[in-house]
Amino acid sequence: MKHLCVFICHLLVFVCLCTIIPSVNGRKFHRSCNKHHHNQGDSCNSTTNFNILSFGAKANGVSDDSKKLVAAWKLACKVGGGILQIPSDHKFLIKPVTLQGPCKAHVVLQIDGTLLAPSKRSKSNLYQWINFKWVHNITIQGSGTIDGQGYNWWESKNALDIKPTALRFYASEDILVRDITIKNSPQVHLKFDNSRGVKVENITVLAPGNSPNTDGIHLQNTRDVEILHSNIGTGDDCISVQTGCSNVHIHHISCGPGHGISIGGLGKDKTIACVSDVVVENSNIQNTLYGTRIKTWQGGIGLVKNITFSNIQVANVNFPIVINQYYCDKSFCNNQTGSIAIKEVKFDRISGSYSTQPIHLACSNDIPCTEIDLSDIQLKPSRRPLEGSQLQHALCYNSYGISKGQLVPSSMNYCLKKDGGGSVNQISRLSNELC
Ligand SMILES: *[C@@H]1O[C@H](CO)[C@@H](O)[C@H](O)[C@H]1NC(C)=O
Ligand SMILES: *[C@@H]1O[C@H](CO)[C@@H](O)[C@H](O)[C@H]1NC(C)=O
Ligand SMILES: *[C@@H]1O[C@H](CO)[C@@H](O)[C@H](O)[C@H]1NC(C)=O
Ligand SMILES: *[C@@H]1O[C@H](CO)[C@@H](O)[C@H](O)[C@H]1NC(C)=O
Ligand SMILES: *[C@@H]1O[C@H](CO)[C@@H](O)[C@H](O)[C@H]1NC(C)=O
Repeated sequence: MKHLCVFICHLLVFVCLCTIIPSVNGRKFHRSCNKHHHNQGDSCNSTTNFNILSFGAKANGVSDDSKKLVAAWKLACKVGGGILQIPSDHKFLIKPVTLQGPCKAHVVLQIDGTLLAPSKRSKSNLYQWINFKWVHNITIQGSGTIDGQGYNWWESKNALDIKPTALRFYASEDILVRDITIKNSPQVHLKFDNSRGVKVENITVLAPGNSPNTDGIHLQNTRDVEILHSNIGTGDDCISVQTGCSNVHIHHISCGPGHGISIGGLGKDKTIACVSDVVVENSNIQNTLYGTRIKTWQGGIGLVKNITFSNIQVANVNFPIVINQYYCDKSFCNNQTGSIAIKEVKFDRISGSYSTQPIHLACSNDIPCTEIDLSDIQLKPSRRPLEGSQLQHALCYNSYGISKGQLVPSSMNYCLKKDGGGSVNQISRLSNELC
């Protein structure tokens, strides 16, 4: 009987402690929430909401608020279901930061205000500005903006300079990025590498058409990806799919200006590259240099297979349909033997206007492209071609496959060769084993 009493007493003390501790925490954040009551809504009265202002952020766009962001992240990450709030009508200057997981449970980064990168170039080699690492199950959302202030970086004439990616996810899983705007990154705007389970929806990516290497979304070693209903216009690829990616679905994208939607460049410096199961569909590409493109360097090894570009409207695009196995980012690259194999590529229902060449399939001398399908392609010369560009006929070099439906201009009808041949299959087997 006595033992039972002692036990119940202990239990009561334990229960009391359990209810007091969280409510103390709750009050702390509640109080600081009220101080900045405007534009935070009802959501600021819980223990899981962490407003960066409550951590003493200056929010003037000039003082460095990075430590406040990291402090708020650490708490939001530690509790279950944490929400880190970047309130609207405020600008937060953030120096390069890493927001690290794993977190206790799902985390939301609610960006309604603006995160500003330092406008000055730093001298050291900086690979990224805001870096998420080892984070599983995160949502980034809101009507706010991530502004990379890249102007000073773009001026650099040295192509070898390392410039930071604005927002990077490294070795992360189950990521949803929605609604936000990312603009003027020094280099790539949004990058996922070594990650899995990515959804990007309804975002806007903006940079001037002449800003160098400012890819919109960059995927590398990442699988199970959906990118949809987004508006991307930059100085380089709107979306770039690099080695190690598979099961990628891209749809309802508006792309331009820039270099279109690309797979590659793959196989630089004789490296191995594998990309498979990519669908790009129901999208618009306008005022870009390229439309749908696969690019590989000479001398690489590996395989690109099962790629579909379907129902794409192009407008005033220089080269709407491209496979280039001679990719070279300088004026001159040495010829190399060997190539990444490319097979099972569909270009289906691509229509609109081009300003240089409707189709350009420059496949490798060593390994032809096989099972290339062209169906229902209708491209007419643009009424507003770029200055100095001259219209060229369709080009297909060492490309095998089938043409279906109507192809306009008719020079595309005789572009593909019909039979792959034995040596091709042998090489394909080798690539299959690698990838
Ligand atoms: C927060 O406040 C809103 C209204 O102001 C209320 O409906 C809600 O129940 C509150 N939530 C908590 C966790 O106290
Ligand atoms: C991520 O978090 C959400 C919200 O808590 C949850 O519904 C979902 O199951 C989680 N997903 C994974 C893969 O853990
Ligand atoms: C898309 O994002 C914008 C800007 O944040 C937002 O106003 C709009 O409601 C979002 N649309 C959908 C369908 O979620
Ligand atoms: C090709 O890729 C698509 C999209 O990921 C996938 O649904 C389909 O099963 C793949 N086909 C083959 C033959 O692997
Ligand atoms: C590379 O190969 C192509 C085609 O065989 C040839 O026209 C070109 O001159 C070569 N370039 C160099 C640098 O050897």
